[in-house]
Amino acid sequence: MEGQGEHHKPKKILCVGLVCLDIISVVDAFPQEDSDSRCVSQRWQRGGNASNSCTVLSLLGSPCAFMGSLCAGPVASFILEDFQRFQVEVHSPHERAACVTPTSLVISSAATGSRTILHMNSNIPDVTCEDFSAVDLSAFKWIHWEGRNADEQLKMMAEVARYNAASPPQHRIVVSVEIEKPREKLYQLFPHADVVFVSKDVARHLGFHTPQSALQGLRGRLRAGAVMICPWAEKGADAVDADGTLLHSDAFPPERLLDTLGAGDTFNAAVIHKLANGCRLQDALTFGCRVAGTKCGFHGYDGIA
Ligand code: ADP
Ligand code: FRU
Repeated sequence: MEGQGEHHKPKKILCVGLVCLDIISVVDAFPQEDSDSRCVSQRWQRGGNASNSCTVLSLLGSPCAFMGSLCAGPVASFILEDFQRFQVEVHSPHERAACVTPTSLVISSAATGSRTILHMNSNIPDVTCEDFSAVDLSAFKWIHWEGRNADEQLKMMAEVARYNAASPPQHRIVVSVEIEKPREKLYQLFPHADVVFVSKDVARHLGFHTPQSALQGLRGRLRAGAVMICPWAEKGADAVDADGTLLHSDAFPPERLLDTLGAGDTFNAAVIHKLANGCRLQDALTFGCRVAGTKCGFHGYDGIA
């Protein structure tokens, strides 16, 4: 799965999805409704699943790029500077002038490590297939989609499938997708990726109470040869191989659970990093849990590498 682009530039991993602003208040303990208390600290952080996964990929040493919509204005400048700090290449179709940057207010509880997210996304249109068509696919060895505007994303995946059909095996792009939100429309994406990440929320919503039963129950929705991965917080993560073998890794809890914001995005990035470098699924699963567990022991992502 490794590859070199034209002019021998290493091929990148592209993540398509959301970037937003996270305004994070760290509290000693989760506040009472209608109380007035002080935070331990407050910070701005670049957020969004695909954007967070890019941060982690870059920290792990995988050259990567982000594709998603940005709004014009000072928040976009903060976001772009931060992408630059992590050496993440940005493909944003155009800065949408008349829109507001999606923003999350996050209460991060130091007592439990929980993160309570209040997300607002009023009017920013997601990347379309037309936007995606402008990208030179030969620069990428892997494209990961955060499941969002599924109808458009299906068209983008079809474009990659056409590119792959016309390319020699060593230049084919691996496709992964995260199905995180329990939305019927996103379930169309199951049969269109080589690697599918399905969340415990989706698994539960579809009536499964364990990762193993979810993987067994949902496996039939994958295309031949694909694998599926299901992270389950402090229980670690499970996966099903292309031949139906179930795999498991325990979690690696940090000494003190401090911040679970972006644990899933960290896990996805670490798994992709390993698979894109030719590792076996079991090793990638264990590495994903190790990196995500470590991340839960500190705020933000800088401590990963
Ligand atoms: P999210 O809710 O952020 O999408 P998950 O809860 O599914 O993510 O967790 C993703 C991965 O992060 C898990 O597979 C696990 O490896 C790690 N993780 C999450 N929460 C914990 C925890 N409390 N202790 C140890 N590891 C954790
Ligand atoms: C974490 C995250 C945050 C963002 C929220 C969006 O997984 O991407 O950075 O605020 O989820 O749903």
